[in-house]
Amino acid sequence: MAIKNVGVLGCGLMGSGIVQVCAQSGYEVIFTEVSQQLIDKGMALIGKFLSKGVEKGKISEEDKKTTLSRIKGTTELKELSVCDLIIEAAVENMDLKKKLFSQLDEICPPETIFASNTSSLSITEMASSTKRPDRFIGLHFFNPVPLMALAEVIKTIMTLDEVFQAGSEFAKSLGKTPIKTSDRTGFIVNRLLVPYLLDAIRALEEGVGTVEDIDNGMRLGCGYPMGPFTLLDFVGLDTTLYIANIMFEEFKEKRFAPPPLLKKMVAAGRLGRKSGRGFYDYSKGK
Ligand code: 3HC
Repeated sequence: MAIKNVGVLGCGLMGSGIVQVCAQSGYEVIFTEVSQQLIDKGMALIGKFLSKGVEKGKISEEDKKTTLSRIKGTTELKELSVCDLIIEAAVENMDLKKKLFSQLDEICPPETIFASNTSSLSITEMASSTKRPDRFIGLHFFNPVPLMALAEVIKTIMTLDEVFQAGSEFAKSLGKTPIKTSDRTGFIVNRLLVPYLLDAIRALEEGVGTVEDIDNGMRLGCGYPMGPFTLLDFVGLDTTLYIANIMFEEFKEKRFAPPPLLKKMVAAGRLGRKSGRGFYDYSKGK
């Protein structure tokens, strides 16, 4: 099952990282966005990350150029007909994802593998909207995609073994360590990470410690690269609230219930780094 051409739906935060690592690993990549403006924005994100890599001495100027030459952005879904694997990294909306996959089902040859980078929606439900549910997997990457060494590979009860295997081999070819997980909301990482992040907010609400002290506690006491509040700001409080709501809806367990402070912060527009303020203030830079 040779994969040469990769399609990526969406070139936002996660999509641009996925496009970049695929191109850096030698694949020809076509990504789709809804407008030329968003194509340009996605390319700029990739260019910026690669330039930082050059500055840090991680890659050469030549590597950067070669990587960029393997990437093409389009607003036309039909251009993905040449792809052997398509990874969806669009907004977390089940109806939209199902619509995109059922359109692609008509456009792509039957062998093309479909994958979703969703963090919490059902892969089985998405796969069921196509005529190839046996060639459908989850490929969940972590932010920042070029730096995080993991990919969760999700096998539904319909996925063929050889398709799951191809997904795992593909993840390895990107330099990621694949872990196998079944299609349960949150998979492995978010199932453990989300309750931890929510618990940090509860600890803050209960006055156990300040934002800085709780962050330092986990960073210096446990060796985590970021404390929970720095990570919450990094992931986005709206994204965390969205995932927590889906997980709570699915499992009805208290540990997944979003705490009031998280809801209030999102309502106030304090979404983390992306809005300039979350648990920390980023208005004056880092
Ligand atoms: N190109 C190439 N390499 C780069 C780079 C670039 N543009 N930018 C940084 N790097 C390299 C650095 O050179 C460094 O390499 P070294 O270790 O060999 O020196 C390494 O990457 C780390 O970079 P920095 O030193 O600049 O930054 P930090 O040490 O602060 O690390 C981080 C940044 C990797 C983001 C680290 O803080 C981290 O791991 N944080 C946790 C992130 C995390 O948990 N992500 C998962 C979020 S959950 C998720 O995504 C799931 C979703 O469903 C919600």
